[in-house]
Amino acid sequence: MRPIVVVAGTRPEIIKLAPIIEHLERLKIEYFFVWSGQHYDYEMSRVFFEELGVPKPHIDLDVRSGSHAEQTAKIMLGLEKVLKDVNPSFVVAEGDTNTVVAAALTSAKMQTPFAHVEAGLRSYSNIMPEEINRKIADAIANIHFAPTKLAALNLVFEGVPRKHIYVVGNTIVDAVHKWRDKTENTGLELLKELGLAKYNYALVTVHRAENTDDPDRLSSILIALNELGKKVDVVYPIHPRTLKRVRELGLEKYLDRIRVLKPLGYLEFLGLLMYARVVLTDSGGVQEESFTLKVPTVTLRYNTERPETTLFDINMLAGTDPNRIVELASIQMQRFDEIKSLKFDNPLGDGKAGKRIVKALIELQAEKFFMDPDLSKTPFAIYRPVSYTHLR
Ligand code: UD1
Ligand code: UDP
Repeated sequence: MRPIVVVAGTRPEIIKLAPIIEHLERLKIEYFFVWSGQHYDYEMSRVFFEELGVPKPHIDLDVRSGSHAEQTAKIMLGLEKVLKDVNPSFVVAEGDTNTVVAAALTSAKMQTPFAHVEAGLRSYSNIMPEEINRKIADAIANIHFAPTKLAALNLVFEGVPRKHIYVVGNTIVDAVHKWRDKTENTGLELLKELGLAKYNYALVTVHRAENTDDPDRLSSILIALNELGKKVDVVYPIHPRTLKRVRELGLEKYLDRIRVLKPLGYLEFLGLLMYARVVLTDSGGVQEESFTLKVPTVTLRYNTERPETTLFDINMLAGTDPNRIVELASIQMQRFDEIKSLKFDNPLGDGKAGKRIVKALIELQAEKFFMDPDLSKTPFAIYRPVSYTHLR
């Protein structure tokens, strides 16, 4: 079996690919791990390798920050070389970042089968770079690992052949199941350190381009957080992108009432999440985790490509209007006991997605994905041998 190339480059990708790498290791399947270096600060990258026990990447393309074209092109150049050297059976990437779209494009151009993990998510908002990335990745992918039935349906509606759509669950559920017990104490210690009371604070993450690049939207969110800070402790491990924008726009004053922290490691973040009264976020992964842990959630967006998380209103979409954010945060805090006592099967997965994905990849080894179609068998008359004599 030729090696499998696994590509990642940002915080959520390590967290979500870790369960797949774990199973590749367990089954002793040869793989080559490429880190694009899109994220590079210690707390956005290496901390996760250390905490989650993910082996070091075989190569770091070290592309760092830049425009979308710069990042995508640099990753493609680096990855092309890797694919030439390694000659893998598959390239596997997860999600919707520039790293993923670059992996998909490079694979297709090198005629290497591309497997897209978390395929089929759609926000139907093309102002999000993530929506463009995931649509391109899905258009190119040879194998689609859809996390949910809804995601699979999106793919079917777009004409993706069913044969290569696998509904496997989301690997984030694997991660939460694996780590939640171990993070209980980490969370409690952190609460003590921060002087926060269990189930009595709001946890915030905000980093999306559509929120941080638009000064009005960013100001509105910060005004809301400042208001919320009058009622409850607010703790915010801030993404470097957002911190940079807050400073550029001179919005620091709105953070006065908020406990701003550096980005946290996974165990610390999950520890804070599980004891939060409410989480306010625009993150994809955090919506999935808070839903899985039944933490009342307010999403600071007007759409979500994770509609399953709005089941029982565990996740409510507030958009960016300050009054609406504060109102929904108050409602969700009051609903805390109700949400915690809900009982349901998690539509996002059962914690076995990583295992299913690796099993499918092994089974698909023999499949041929790049073949010229036999057009002589097409139903269209134009390709059939035709006698034109009757037209004369
Ligand atoms: C990227 C993804 C986004 C994902 C997010 C996860 C794209 C288009 N966006 O957004 O889908 O939700 O990662 O967190 O791929 N920066 C640092 N240190 C770092 C990394 C980034 O300071 O280690 C700063 C730089 O100023 C950089 C900015 O953050 O310009 C944005 O980084 P970038 O990787 O382009 O996008 P993210 O906002 O992180
Ligand atoms: N996360 C973390 N530390 C933090 C904030 C988030 O470990 O300070 C984790 C979180 O638990 C989730 C992932 O990062 O698993 C989500 O990443 P992010 O919000 O950056 O990206 P998205 O999921 O929106 O693509």
